[in-house]
Amino acid sequence: MTVLLGLETSCDETAAAIVKDGRQLLSSCLVSQTPIHQKFGGVVPEVAARSHVQTINLMIDEALAQANLTYDQLDGIACTRGPGLIGTLLIGLSAAKALSWSWNLPLKTVDHLFAHVCANFINTDLEPPFVALLVSGGHTQILHFKNFDDIEIIGETLDDAAGEAYDKVGRLLGLGYPGGPVIDKLAAAGNPSAFKFPEGVVKGYDFSFSGLKTAVLRQVEKLSQSSEALPVEDLCASFQEAVSKVLVKKTLKAAEELNLKTIVLAGGVAANRELRSKFEKASGYRVYFPSNHLCTDNAAMVAAAAFFHGEDSELNVGAYSRQPVRASAKS
Ligand code: KG4
Ligand code: ZN
Repeated sequence: MTVLLGLETSCDETAAAIVKDGRQLLSSCLVSQTPIHQKFGGVVPEVAARSHVQTINLMIDEALAQANLTYDQLDGIACTRGPGLIGTLLIGLSAAKALSWSWNLPLKTVDHLFAHVCANFINTDLEPPFVALLVSGGHTQILHFKNFDDIEIIGETLDDAAGEAYDKVGRLLGLGYPGGPVIDKLAAAGNPSAFKFPEGVVKGYDFSFSGLKTAVLRQVEKLSQSSEALPVEDLCASFQEAVSKVLVKKTLKAAEELNLKTIVLAGGVAANRELRSKFEKASGYRVYFPSNHLCTDNAAMVAAAAFFHGEDSELNVGAYSRQPVRASAKS
C-alpha cells in the first residue's frame, strides 16, 4: 500500500490531495484563484505565486485532516515540476522539498500534462494502452499512451490550445475569464448550426484554432453593425461545435488507425459537455473522462501520476516551464 500526498501549483489553483495506490482518493483540497485573476482577464504570474504562498500550508493541513491521516502515515510527497509558471511551480516544489526533508519522506516529481491524463486512473480500472486527448488551457495533444514509459505525442495544436481558444472567444464575447465553462453553459441554449465556423483543417493529427477564433471575431464585428442584440448563445454553440467536432474526429481516427478501443480525455476542456457527449456517441469505444473537479488542475492527479510513474527526485531538483509530456514520461 502506498499513500502519497500530492501538491499542485503550476498555475492558479493551490491544491493538495492524498491518494492511495494511485487510484483511491482519500482527500482532495483546492483553492482556485480565479476570482483574484478575473479582474485582469487572465492569470498574473506574480499575483498567483503570492497567493500560493498564502494557501499551500492550509491545503496540506486540510488534505491530511480530510483523509484522517497524520504525516507519519504517508509514504511520499508528490509534486508538479512543470510545465507551468515558474514562479508558481517553485512554491509547490519548495513546499514539497521542505516536507520531504522534515518528514523524511521520498520526493516524487511529475509532469503536469502526464498528471492530467493520470486523473483517469482515479476510481477506475483503466490500464494502458490507450489514446488520450489532452485539452487544457495551455496544451492540445493526441497521445499514444503505450505504457507508463512510452508515451508518444501523435498530434498537437500548431497555434492556440483548445482551452485558450475558449478563453479568447469568451473574452471577445465579453463573458469574462475563464471562457470555457461559461461558453459550455450558454452553448446549451444556442443553435450549433447558426454560424458555420471553420474547424481548422490541418493535415494528420495536428490542430489549429487561431483561424476559428478570428472567424468568430469577424462574425461578431459583422453582427455588431446591426442594432439587434448579439446572439451570444448561437455564437457559443457554433464555436463549440467547430472545436468539439475536430477534436473528436481526429481522436477517433487515431484510435482507429492504432487499433485501440480505449479513449481517455484529460485537461480542463475535458469537462466540456458537448465534447463528452460526442465521444459518448462514438460506438465501439470505451471512453474515460475524469469527474469535473479532476479535469481542471488538482493535486489528486499529481499523487496518482507519482504512484504510476513519478520521478524519484533529490532536494536540488528544479522546476521547468516547458517540456513535452513524452520527454518527462521517459526520463
Ligand atoms: O487543465 P486546466 O485546468 O489548466 C491548464 O493546465 O491549462 O484547463 C483550464 C482550461 C481553461 O482554458 C478553461 O476555459 C477550460 O480549461 N475549461 C473548459 C471547461 N472547463 C474548463 N473549456 C470548455 N468547457 C468547459 N466546461
Ligand atoms: Zn492543467
